[in-house]
Amino acid sequence: MADPTFLFTTCQITAERALKAETARLWPDLRLAFSRPGFVTWKLPTRHGLSDDFHPHLVFARSHGFSLGKVTGETDAARVEAARQLVGAINFDELHVVIRGETPSEQVPSAVAVLGEALGWQPLALREAAVAARVTRPKTSAARSPLVLDCILVEPCLWWLGFHRVTEIATSWPGGWHLAPLPEHAVSRAYLKMDEALAWSQIPVAPGEQVAEIGCSPGGASQALLDRGLIVLGIDPAQVDQRVIAHPHFTHLRKRGHEVRRREFRKTRWLTADMNVAPQYTLDTVEAIVSHPEVNVRGMLLTLKLLEWSLAGQIPACLERIRSWGYADVQARQLSHNRQEICVAARLHATARPDG
Ligand SMILES: C[S@@+](CC[C@H](N)C(=O)[O-])C[C@H]1O[C@@H](n2cnc3c(N)ncnc32)[C@H](O)[C@@H]1O
Repeated sequence: MADPTFLFTTCQITAERALKAETARLWPDLRLAFSRPGFVTWKLPTRHGLSDDFHPHLVFARSHGFSLGKVTGETDAARVEAARQLVGAINFDELHVVIRGETPSEQVPSAVAVLGEALGWQPLALREAAVAARVTRPKTSAARSPLVLDCILVEPCLWWLGFHRVTEIATSWPGGWHLAPLPEHAVSRAYLKMDEALAWSQIPVAPGEQVAEIGCSPGGASQALLDRGLIVLGIDPAQVDQRVIAHPHFTHLRKRGHEVRRREFRKTRWLTADMNVAPQYTLDTVEAIVSHPEVNVRGMLLTLKLLEWSLAGQIPACLERIRSWGYADVQARQLSHNRQEICVAARLHATARPDG
């Protein structure tokens, strides 16, 4: 395969500016190329020598890959042929199709059918409208990290093909979307945000351990933790849903984070925070807890709200601040269930994470 000349990234619609600023800071050799809301491409320098498992580690890039080219045909037959030309002899293990944007679309299953034919993986028939779909090659043996054919549906008649190798769990999610359905008993969509944060970070929470959640009302994220068998100390001055309060492993402290006495956290192993306040306020509250000598928090999942997009520029300093508390492994990502906010995962010790 010839050296690819473009890199593509997808992001939350409205996060493009933050993504561009972050890329300019971390990868100054990349030149901004074609861009649409939620989809940004970059010209790579010549002789870049990057391999297919390259990962740019950008907070605002939900997914990334090298570009193969565009599919612009008007009919399915023309698209199959165009895709076939771009795929050539590359042996893919998976197909990820994603719509540019946030609304489920009928185009996703139709593109899966077209690309299935181009790959010779027929019949592939997904019926439901979706934001993204993941298909594995029939009769595949997962002996190596999968090589993924990416298709981003930029416009109805403009599909972008690319590829990446699965290197960590979020690269196995099509378009970086965590596609779990909202359970019927969930009291808020924050259930999915916590579910995704746990899946992405691989923070090794275990049943019976105590987690404190600062900013827990109405209680969706607490439910995701309770469903994993954790004991939850929920802290919030606002009301928590009765269904969560009734759970035998849930305790509500109806206070603000800074009002809780430090010794209440003596049994706390994990800490999560999701307060609708500025990042510095969240970090002040968390620092006062985790730096107390009687408290031993092994890991954290913190939502940092970007009340204004300009706060994105403060993210590197926020992560440094968290490291200064003794957390060796600190990562950040704008999750697919994050709104104008990011998720930070911090652990005391860096540990190897399994691939997706
Ligand atoms: C986005 S909501 C949290 C959603 C919640 N995690 C869930 O799963 O449903 C933000 C919450 O932060 C709470 N909050 C704001 N400041 C706080 C503070 N200083 N201490 C504790 N909670 C706070 C608010 O009362 C509000 O309920």
